[in-house]
Amino acid sequence: MTFQSLILEENGPILIVTINRPEALNALNKMVFDELEMVFRDELPKMQQIRGVIITGSGEKAFVAGADIKEFANFGAEQATALSLRGQGVLFLIENCHVPVIAAVNGFALGGGCELAMACHMRIAGAKAKFGQPEVNLGLTPGYAGTQRLIQLVGKTFGIELLLTARIIDAEEAFRIGLVNKVVEQGQEVATAMEILNVIAQKAPIAIAKTIHCINTFYNKEKDGFYEEAVQFGLCTETEDFKEGTTAFIEKRKADFKNK
Ligand code: CAA
Repeated sequence: MTFQSLILEENGPILIVTINRPEALNALNKMVFDELEMVFRDELPKMQQIRGVIITGSGEKAFVAGADIKEFANFGAEQATALSLRGQGVLFLIENCHVPVIAAVNGFALGGGCELAMACHMRIAGAKAKFGQPEVNLGLTPGYAGTQRLIQLVGKTFGIELLLTARIIDAEEAFRIGLVNKVVEQGQEVATAMEILNVIAQKAPIAIAKTIHCINTFYNKEKDGFYEEAVQFGLCTETEDFKEGTTAFIEKRKADFKNK
């Protein structure tokens, strides 16, 4: 499958998805969302060999500088609400992906770019990365769930300040407030994300998928996450990988998981 605004590259069990619109600082337009949806909804479930995904931006300047402002500048309420729901839907696909997704943030992650990074399960920031939700400068609220996920990730104290002031923060501050997992030397974001995903790739894939599902349930107001965890814990015992994991422990050897 070929894409126009994404570059897909497999490196062992890891899929690297690069948003490739450097001329627009990788801003999220309709095509980027359509293609991200194809990857996360259609392609990944078929790619049984993939154990983790990295999302990054092309060029040296930006991860993603936001939603494409030029695309929605003339929108009215109905179109803008639809755009917001569409973007949120694609980000939900990423958040609910059965394999872990890490944002390798190589530069500006503003507005929709910060929101995309926040929908990923982890964020690795290069030393020159910058984060922010500048929508109020444009007369807008965030549209791709920035008001929800920023508060989830950093709490209301820091989240409300960043959302109301539109202040852009550097990678170290993002780390201090809990927005990113790690700050690494500029250019090492993808390699660091790869190291983490290669560790996770050694674990039981079904247990990994169920753990992501249980964590996401914490934020689902209609579900009881504690009960959901108990159910998923029970379902794990019916997998071959559970038998393999416990047998390997007892036999003092490394488990060889089969994703079954
Ligand atoms: N949408 C569309 N085009 C964008 C863009 C965006 N979000 N961000 C940058 N670009 C384009 C610029 O228009 C410019 O294109 P031209 O060369 O054709 O003029 C090109 O990318 C390079 O950008 P700059 O010349 O502005 O680069 P800079 O180094 O001077 O500034 C920047 C970098 C500070 C990131 C600046 O580009 C900027 O402020 N970008 C917009 C950031 C922003 O407001 N993001 C939020 C968007 S709204 C949103 O995301 C809503 C939502 O939640 C759904």
